[in-house]
Amino acid sequence: MAAEWSTFAPELLLTLDRESAAPLRAQLEDQLRDAVRRGRLATDERLPSSRTLAADLGLSRGLVQECYEQLVAEGYLVSRRGSGTRVAPVHAPAADEPPRPSAAPAPPLVADFVPGVPDLGLAPREDWAWAVRTACRTAPNTAFDYGDPCGDPGLREVLAAYLRRVRAADAVASRVVVCAGYQQGLSIVLRALAAEGRSLVAVEDPGSIGTVTAAARAAGGDGVPVPVDEQGIDVDALDRSGARVAVVAPAHQWPTGVVLSPERRHRLLAWARARDALVVEDDYDAEFRYDREPIGSLQGLAPDRVVSIGTVSKSLAPALRLGWTLVPESLVGPVAAIKQVVDRGVPTLDQLALGALIESGRYDRHLRRMRSTYSQRREALVAALAEHAPDRTITGLAAGFHAVTDLPAGVEEEDVVERALELRVRLYGMGRYRSTLAGTPPRLVFGFGNTGVRAVEEGIATVAPLLR
Ligand SMILES: Cc1ncc(COP(=O)(O)O)c(C=O)c1O
Repeated sequence: MAAEWSTFAPELLLTLDRESAAPLRAQLEDQLRDAVRRGRLATDERLPSSRTLAADLGLSRGLVQECYEQLVAEGYLVSRRGSGTRVAPVHAPAADEPPRPSAAPAPPLVADFVPGVPDLGLAPREDWAWAVRTACRTAPNTAFDYGDPCGDPGLREVLAAYLRRVRAADAVASRVVVCAGYQQGLSIVLRALAAEGRSLVAVEDPGSIGTVTAAARAAGGDGVPVPVDEQGIDVDALDRSGARVAVVAPAHQWPTGVVLSPERRHRLLAWARARDALVVEDDYDAEFRYDREPIGSLQGLAPDRVVSIGTVSKSLAPALRLGWTLVPESLVGPVAAIKQVVDRGVPTLDQLALGALIESGRYDRHLRRMRSTYSQRREALVAALAEHAPDRTITGLAAGFHAVTDLPAGVEEEDVVERALELRVRLYGMGRYRSTLAGTPPRLVFGFGNTGVRAVEEGIATVAPLLR
């Protein structure tokens, strides 16, 4: 899509050489032709008015008008009354080129069970707009300067209080580092740990193997997959892996949905102490818990051994790119130093807006609304599977907005996914989150964050023959 500038004339970088023997008009024409050919100016993009460009370049308006007319005649530009002078379509098909058949639009899907995506249509636009406006209106002038790379002190206080209250975390503001989502928090923490010699990172299998391994490699280390069973990460296998960092999602493992059992929690922390290792807790969707009391954060049990990373990507929207990292005292300095190098801190106004959202109670209210929405979808998924595919077992439903089902014996995951797509339902196999498919049972991961109740019901009814 061409850039649609405001009513002001857009800026255009052109340089004329007044010492050159080439006439100024020829130079201007050449530069504009070149800008169109190279795509610096895209089809339909509006050029400055001849008056503005003439003033910018110190030329007469007549000269610029002549230049535009010449380029219109050559087919580089088009000029229409009321819409100014614009770049013509460059790749118009030649007369002898057969018209390309336009691709028929794909029929809409009955349902897309994409996991990991919250309801984008219910992102709290009004609340966020209120929070940004409030932040902008009330921030002191100093807030517009560079800030602490670890984050706005006020937001760090708010987050620490929130994490103590809701996640039973051992949190103080001085150990909270505001970051651009989980991904950035993870990358920075792994860099800090690698610098201390902890560069081999265990990642749950199935899990975010690609994401964690890529971050570990970028930090100069590597990732090593460690299996997860019905109780969570296999601590014996973790011990054998040689890793001195383990990235886990204890409250609702991604993607199995398993909750790390109390016994495993203690064994995991014992491993960390025995190996002088660190556990990185991915606390990504614990806000949405349905059938039990909330599970406290692992960090609360061992603040010196656990880095806990949270995000608003599931609770508000991924596009906000906001999160927090709660680190042991010894990591505050190294993490702050890396954060300073990476970006000098998260944009302050966004931080102030998040603080205002949480302090005003709007964040909690949004979570309550969303919990109820996701809970209805979760019930719809359970009911639809019970009705149409009663032999399937659903697991991982304790929290978040995805669940897992098994598949009939002998069925290939990818085959089901492909055949479902022919029925216009997008399904997701667990295989994409595994290090290997060998010897693993077929499973489907059903996301219902961005999939409404009707889509859930119709989607399951449509693919029922594949699940039986
Ligand atoms: C397991 C897991 N944790 C955390 C996140 C959130 O990442 P971010 O905060 O960078 O959006 C995701 C995003 O999909 C995820 O899959």
